[in-house]
Amino acid sequence: MTKNEKYIQFPYREYTSTAQLNQQEEKLIELAVEASFMAYNPYSKFNVGAALLLDNGKIITGNNQENAAYPSGLCAERVALFYASSQYPEAAVRILAVVATKNRQVIDMPVPPCGSCRQVFIEWENRFKKPFAVIMAGKEKIIKVEKAEWLMPFSFQSDFL
Ligand code: THU
Repeated sequence: MTKNEKYIQFPYREYTSTAQLNQQEEKLIELAVEASFMAYNPYSKFNVGAALLLDNGKIITGNNQENAAYPSGLCAERVALFYASSQYPEAAVRILAVVATKNRQVIDMPVPPCGSCRQVFIEWENRFKKPFAVIMAGKEKIIKVEKAEWLMPFSFQSDFL
């Protein structure tokens, strides 16, 4: 290690089956899978579903919504978060599960959220002053991170301004 060099580490858990998760987490994955089937994805044909548990007990789902002008589309995670916020602006997120499916089957590997979604996750954690867990579920591997902010070190913060 050279002088001034620093490292960032964060813990995460890895599972090989949804049976290793608790019932609530399993339910979120199941709902995310169902949501993925309803994605509007004529351009990528990639089905992504997200399900989130709010601290008022409600579960909100979303899927990717694409557009002929590609950047105008939105990821499943942000569709779910923005809809949740529009309906329950006072509710913090506790857990967000995300999956991708192909031919109605969950793909083997977990799908990690894109950078824009990670920045949005951090906005939610800051806004409610509560971290939330992110579960990325694949058929062969499931990853759980307890705090969404760990997925994006050096995120932009408006209090820099
Ligand atoms: N996508 C998501 O919905 N979530 C992700 O975490 C990764 C990517 C969508 C966006 C686009 O509709 C398609 O997957 C291909 O990038």
